[in-house]
Amino acid sequence: MAVYGVLGDIHGNREALEAALAGIDAIGVDRVICVGDLIGYNADSDACVRILQSREALCIAGNHDLIGTGQLGFERCSNKAMHSLKRTRRTLGGPEAHYVRMLPAHVVLEGKILLTHGGVRDVQQYMTRPKHFIENVALLRQDFPGIHVCFYGHTHEQRVVEIDGESARDIDPAALGRLRRDHMYFVNPGSVDASRKHGAKRAEFAVFDSGALTVRFSNIAYDDATAEGKSERAGYRIDRWRDRLYDVQRRIVGPRHVDNGAP
Ligand SMILES: [Fe+2]
Ligand SMILES: [Fe+2]
Repeated sequence: MAVYGVLGDIHGNREALEAALAGIDAIGVDRVICVGDLIGYNADSDACVRILQSREALCIAGNHDLIGTGQLGFERCSNKAMHSLKRTRRTLGGPEAHYVRMLPAHVVLEGKILLTHGGVRDVQQYMTRPKHFIENVALLRQDFPGIHVCFYGHTHEQRVVEIDGESARDIDPAALGRLRRDHMYFVNPGSVDASRKHGAKRAEFAVFDSGALTVRFSNIAYDDATAEGKSERAGYRIDRWRDRLYDVQRRIVGPRHVDNGAP
């Protein structure tokens, strides 16, 4: 049993990661864990990897980690994601790329806590609708029997879904009490990187106490102007002409299938 600081979808945003870690440290945890997408989108993928290594964080691979290190193609990326990931592929340092390539697809903690990025068998699946959670509970029971809490990312939203038999229902994070031992839970800690979110930019994270069975969601302001300025200057942001060019390229040479959001 331990208290975990849970991070996800950092996307090379150093300012957001440092703010989230400061928030976690203020609460006090035994271990930092991360549900993937360490790199991509922003200018500081190398720095984020090194920070997570220095914290001995337990991380898994997200789709951006796989695409940014050439283990997965751009087929299911938006133009925005593809553009920044092409840049990430060119700039990621050797030791950092090696670390990212070695990340596992899943991690099981205490025999009952699972880390996954997207769906249990599809790293690029967006688990958004009740049917997605029901499908994934079935896969989870086959692949990882005995899991009580599944932390996931990819959708960039703080969320708790409670599974009761064959039904899935959202629970208001603010009203979340102690997790029930006879139910199963999917928990998304939210996105550390808020660069593509509207409104105030805040790094999201969660703290999970596996002994008390409590999840506490939090968010903290970070220096978005600095993070965004670096990403802009380093060529991680796509202009509308290149966006159109990618559309034309996809129509002519493929890939034809493009996901809408690609967080
Ligand atoms: Fe993702
Ligand atoms: Fe992401």
